Amino acid sequence: MLRERRLPSFDAFPPDPWSLAVVKPEPEMADDELGQTETMFALSNGYLGIRGTLDEGRPIHEPGTFLNGFYEYRPINYGEKAYGFPERGQSMLNCPDGLPIKLFVDGEAFDMAAADILAFERRLDFREGVLHRLLEWRTQTGKRFHLHTSRLVSFADRHLAAIEWELTLPEGGADVAIVSDFVERYPLPPVEGDPRIENGADENAIELLEARHAETRSTFLYRTRSSGFVLGCGMDHHLESDSDFAVGRDAESEALVFRSRCAGGTVKLRKYLAYHYGRADEEEVMLARVGATLDEARRTGFRAIRARQEIDMAAFWKRADVEVESSDSRLQQVIRWNLFQLFQASQRAEGHSIGVRGLTGRTYEGHYFWDTEIYVLPFLIYTAPEAARNVLHFRYRTLDNARERAAELGHRGAAFPWRTINGEEASAYYAAGTAQYHINADISYAIRKYVEVTGDEDFLHRHGAEILVETARLWRDLGFFSKRRDGRFCINGVTGPDEYNAVVDNNYFTNLMASENMAHAAEIVERMKVHAPEAYRDLVARTGLEAEEAAEWRQAAELMYLPYDERLQVHPQDDGFLDKEPWDFENTPEDHYPLLLHYHPLNLYRAQVIKQADTLLAMFLLGDRFTEGEKKRNFDYYDPITTHDSSLSVCIQSIVANEIGYRGKALDYFRFAAVMDLSDVGGNMKHGAHIASIGGTWMAMVYGFGGMRDYRGRISFHPALPDEWPAMQFCLRVRGQLLRIEIDHAETTYRLLEGESLMIWHVSDKVELTAAAPQTRRATPRPKDCDPPRASEAEVAYVPGA
Ligand code: BGC
Repeated sequence: MLRERRLPSFDAFPPDPWSLAVVKPEPEMADDELGQTETMFALSNGYLGIRGTLDEGRPIHEPGTFLNGFYEYRPINYGEKAYGFPERGQSMLNCPDGLPIKLFVDGEAFDMAAADILAFERRLDFREGVLHRLLEWRTQTGKRFHLHTSRLVSFADRHLAAIEWELTLPEGGADVAIVSDFVERYPLPPVEGDPRIENGADENAIELLEARHAETRSTFLYRTRSSGFVLGCGMDHHLESDSDFAVGRDAESEALVFRSRCAGGTVKLRKYLAYHYGRADEEEVMLARVGATLDEARRTGFRAIRARQEIDMAAFWKRADVEVESSDSRLQQVIRWNLFQLFQASQRAEGHSIGVRGLTGRTYEGHYFWDTEIYVLPFLIYTAPEAARNVLHFRYRTLDNARERAAELGHRGAAFPWRTINGEEASAYYAAGTAQYHINADISYAIRKYVEVTGDEDFLHRHGAEILVETARLWRDLGFFSKRRDGRFCINGVTGPDEYNAVVDNNYFTNLMASENMAHAAEIVERMKVHAPEAYRDLVARTGLEAEEAAEWRQAAELMYLPYDERLQVHPQDDGFLDKEPWDFENTPEDHYPLLLHYHPLNLYRAQVIKQADTLLAMFLLGDRFTEGEKKRNFDYYDPITTHDSSLSVCIQSIVANEIGYRGKALDYFRFAAVMDLSDVGGNMKHGAHIASIGGTWMAMVYGFGGMRDYRGRISFHPALPDEWPAMQFCLRVRGQLLRIEIDHAETTYRLLEGESLMIWHVSDKVELTAAAPQTRRATPRPKDCDPPRASEAEVAYVPGA
């Protein structure tokens, strides 16, 4: 259901395919809008993230400097507690803020909130990976100054952020003082009434152990109270000017102060920021690392750091850009902003996963959910396989936590947490948390896709297979063969992706994904036994795998109960779903969406109302298990009752709509997904960018309009562009090769940019691509009401271990 709700156009920014700019100065913005720009201009590399707040520190909606994986514990207080509820959660911490640079001329402070601003622009340049601010300020005495600041969070050195701050003075000069500081920003403003924002760790979360100041450098050492981390951070500076500046410190704050009577010309201040964190016994190490990062930055210099950033951006766009020709001049810009977010969130996340808002805001306390595996991983697998591997490796690294959690819950195998930073379950509401067991199948699904698309058997053998075994065990243990259902394997008491129906029996999505998880685990261990005996022996040693287990998983997978309603000929979302009362959409006021903020969960649980794609998501992820007729009937049933109150929904709806030929709907849903943030569809962009929806936007282009499917490693395309788009092009990395796909309404051209040969499919025609020549195929209308292409054994392009 695409409600007739506002899809505001973000007219504040002028169209430009390679940058996003705002020309309205912050003081003229409402608080919400200010928060949106802070998210929009947040910079990150996947390890360090800094919200787009101003150097002067005001006006401000909410500061944010985040480090991936750096958190504090907080107790979870329950009114009524039960066995197995997690006792403590984790909250991503807001680190000390290194941005502050304040300017005083002739004794007058430059304060955006009060200043007479004659010209203004803030612009995020996608090719440079740099955030610019250009402004002209008239002082009370009528002097005019130009200020140009450039800020980046380095992709090359994940511990580094750098700022170039350039002031151009009027003729006659002025007395100039520049104060550069590093400040703690607690407490953050509390957020009332939105359960998605837990106020998290309190103002005492980090404690200053030591501050060192020498010349232009300050370094700080902090420790967290209970999570056992130390944080080292610091700043250093390099000032360039024709005038002589005196360097001193503010007596109270120890902020660095540069003072001069400047005759004119320009003053350039380069400020470097470093952040490192480690375990509690690494205090000296962290300080030394901060020193080393700052030394290196000063040695390299801002210009070279920036040049390197541009090189990294160019490499990203070469492999990951999606170019869309369209009459909508903003579309390309919106797409690139989205892609830039994916790059920012993932590029240097090494060792960690990706928070649901990347490092752009504190919603959901910076936790990792299934969002990463199902919504972000496809993009990473096809554009940055190493980053995909790293993200999956995080799950391997926390497999022992998942084993412990399974044991605590009385299960065999491993139960991955619904939300976490460190591998421990941090979800306090079990009905929409722990009960979402499907996350285990989602992780397994992502492993399978990663291995099939990249061919990385090393990962499969050393890490992936172990996760497959433990998750298969979980499913086998969680479900049972029900006599009442003719011996079918049933899984009760779970919550599927749709959080408006909780703790249900036989959630269709969960059962189908679990069956896939078990069947795949059985296939892999049996194949490893024959083709990789050494790796298999290691696997057995690590997991205690027993001879009969694979057969047991296979049996449960084959006998999995998948609800089907003969009369409606649809798959009920779960056993009880079709018996529920229809939701009264007609009398639901527009301002009562999202429903979760206006209705008690029980009211939602007892009605046929859906938060996000659930059964339809299964039809996309495991699409070769359905006929097109089935997809259509299910879409027709579920679409009108899906609210899309979760940002994870419209992208999937778009892909499925596309597949069944609902092209108008597909485009409408795609538009919602693409502007989820820039038009603030959910009204909460100020709290961070919706990374899953952004990953879903990429999927809606590549799997939706590009018609890509990759069942069991067989990569096929069935493009169908919207009439409004004359052409679209993108690249995909497949088993080390770089494939470019150029689509227009008449034909599609496949080109191998890197690599020797690759087999793909255009609709059902095999295309054997070589480096020598591209191949072009005529457009084929999408078939209606017929079976989608299935991967037969002979056609499977990549079989691990074969
Ligand atoms: C959605 C979940 C999602 C979470 C974090 C919730 O609103 O229902 O599916 O994982 O947000 O994005």
